[in-house]
Amino acid sequence: MKTIIEPFRIKTVEPIKMTTPAERRTLIERAGFNLFKLPAEDVIIDLLTDSGTSAMSSAQWGALMQGDESYAGARSWYRFERAVKEIFGFEHVIPTHQGRAAERILFSVLVKPGHVVPSNTHFDTTRANIEFAGGRAVDLPAPEAADPASRAPFKGDMDVRALEALIAEVGPERIPVIMLTVTNNSGGGQPVSMANIKAVSRIARTHGIPFYIDACRFAENAWFIKQREPGYADKTPREIAREMFSYADGATMSAKKDAFANIGGFLVTNDGELAAQERDLLILTEGFPTYGGLAGRDLEAIAVGLDEVLEEDYLNYRIVSTAYVANKLDAAGVPVMLPAGGHAVYLDARRFLPHVPPLQYPGQALSVELYVEGGVRGVEIGTVMFGKDPHTGEEKPAHWDLVRLAIPRRVYTQSHMDYVVEAVAQVYQRREEIGGMRIVREPRFLRHFSAEFAWV
Ligand code: F0G
Repeated sequence: MKTIIEPFRIKTVEPIKMTTPAERRTLIERAGFNLFKLPAEDVIIDLLTDSGTSAMSSAQWGALMQGDESYAGARSWYRFERAVKEIFGFEHVIPTHQGRAAERILFSVLVKPGHVVPSNTHFDTTRANIEFAGGRAVDLPAPEAADPASRAPFKGDMDVRALEALIAEVGPERIPVIMLTVTNNSGGGQPVSMANIKAVSRIARTHGIPFYIDACRFAENAWFIKQREPGYADKTPREIAREMFSYADGATMSAKKDAFANIGGFLVTNDGELAAQERDLLILTEGFPTYGGLAGRDLEAIAVGLDEVLEEDYLNYRIVSTAYVANKLDAAGVPVMLPAGGHAVYLDARRFLPHVPPLQYPGQALSVELYVEGGVRGVEIGTVMFGKDPHTGEEKPAHWDLVRLAIPRRVYTQSHMDYVVEAVAQVYQRREEIGGMRIVREPRFLRHFSAEFAWV
């Protein structure tokens, strides 16, 4: 069969409240034209994030009832620890309430003022946690990543030559850890090849620098390797994932992505001394080391989710269905980033609205109009998010102006996605009528969450 279907049936449904374009114009105006300020009820298709928004399976809901809520040494903890070790292969597992808590603990222990932490591209919380610890976060994406026209298979790779140059420049003693984000979320959800993971690992080992993987979307990355990298077609996603982690010294994970959980995360390492320091911090802010800020039932849901996310039928459907949206938009002439990433489709707002200058926030204007058109909520990744230096107050265009449409796992059907494609295409038809925006109120830090806008 050529048609790849959702490999699940729907047992529970959640109604979607329908609204009209006229109602949505009023709603978004009332929200200061900021999509983060909309009540989620007023959104028809919510593509704000793929994080914590997955649908759990009947097996996960069943496992919730098995949750052992004992404070220490709960049965659910052992089940969780076993599931994590089975895939990640590290000796020490430290549970946290989500990914950024794992990052905060790791960087609090490793990063000192003056340190430099390279990555293919840091996610914003990773960057913020490094900076909060006094370090400098450096992005070293592969050159193909900057070229929207490039159809290279692994646009998420790190530029290993730039990594070597950075180590030579600052000295290995000032680099406490090298990170690699799989897939590369801030770089368009693009995958990282096994060859690149190995190359980064080799460089890290040569210089005695620990190498960590930001593993949020590890299963999607493993699937891309299976599809695109010679020598992996006959391996299972689990084997590929294990190999990916075998080259690393540790990993941070948000279970809100590739573990189908609504909350949770963890930190793993083989370094016993480091793990002891991390557990001390864990107890201070997250909780006892056998639950780390999670309920026993959450640990159960993650353990089951980690197994399910590596199922081939699921991964095939997941990656094909994301590409389906990107390819349909491309066929309609809409500027999108290609090839499609794993968890999201990225609209290129600068090419979509070429008459809107970057300092009039084309990504924001496009995301507002997409909401008005179809009640679809995406997120601006561009000059609103990255354009202003919070310390100097200086504003300049970001590298790009994108709108990310992140696809929650197992939540929407193909007809929902056809609806999204139609909404984007309709906005594209009337793109010339869409003007720029200005900011009328903004906070000093992370302004995209709460700034208010008006049309220019
Ligand atoms: N690393 C990456 C690559 C991420 O994408 C995220 C979260 C985190 C770390 C932090 O994990 O949210 O559990 O604390 N990304 C979400 C997103 C929020 O929408 O892309 P967290």
